[in-house]
Amino acid sequence: MKNVKAIIFDAYGTLFDVNSAAEKCKERLGDKWEGFANYWRTTQLEYTWLRSLMKRHKDFWKITEDSLDKSMNFYKIDNSMRGELLNLYKVLTPFPEVKETLEHLKQSKFKLAILSNGTPDLLNELVVSNELKDIFDDIFSVEEVGVFKPDSKVYDLPIYKYNVDKNEVLFLSANTWDVSGAGNYGYNSIWLNRNNNIFDKLDFVPTNQISKLSELLDLI
Ligand code: 2OP
Repeated sequence: MKNVKAIIFDAYGTLFDVNSAAEKCKERLGDKWEGFANYWRTTQLEYTWLRSLMKRHKDFWKITEDSLDKSMNFYKIDNSMRGELLNLYKVLTPFPEVKETLEHLKQSKFKLAILSNGTPDLLNELVVSNELKDIFDDIFSVEEVGVFKPDSKVYDLPIYKYNVDKNEVLFLSANTWDVSGAGNYGYNSIWLNRNNNIFDKLDFVPTNQISKLSELLDLI
C-alpha cells in the first residue's frame, strides 16, 4: 500500500445501492421487489459482458433500459412503473457510510476517482444528486473506450491520466468480478464484501477484504 497514489472506486453496487430504485417502489412492487431488483441487476451486467464479447456496444443507460424491460416482463410488472424506476435509477442512494468515508479520504494525499460502466452524464447526475461531486478528482467512464469492464482498456484509463504504475492504484469494488478484473489487470484490488459473500475463482485473490467502506480508512 505504500506505493499507492490513487484510490479508484467502482460506482454501481459499491458507492451507490443499485437496489434502491426498486426499494423506493416496494409498496407497489410488493414482496417481489428484491427478487426483481436482483434480476434487473444481473441481467444488466450480463448484457454488458455479452455486448462487449459481441462487439456490439451500447451505453450503460440503454443497457439499463433493456434489462429493465426484460425484468419487468419476467416479473409481470405493470409498464406504468417503467418511467419512475428509470428516474430513480438516475439518483440511486449511496450506502450509509459512503459520504463520511469519502469526506475523510478527501483530506488525504491520494487522487480519488470513480471508474465505472456508467455514462458520463449518469455518473455526473449520481454524484451531483448525492452532493459528492467535489470529492472526486476524476470520473472515468467506459464510454471513453466503448467497451465494458473487465476489458483492460477500461482499467487503463486512470493509468494514462495519472501516469502511474498499476501497483500505484488501489481499486475498490463490491462486485467480485470487477475486483477480479482489476486485480488480474494489476491493481491492488480490494473487495468490499458487505454481505458475507463468497469470492470468485478467476485467478485473483483480493489484496484485502473489508465489510464496510469505512474500514478502508484503517488500511491506508
Ligand atoms: C460499475 O459501476 C459495473 O457496477 C459497475 O462499473
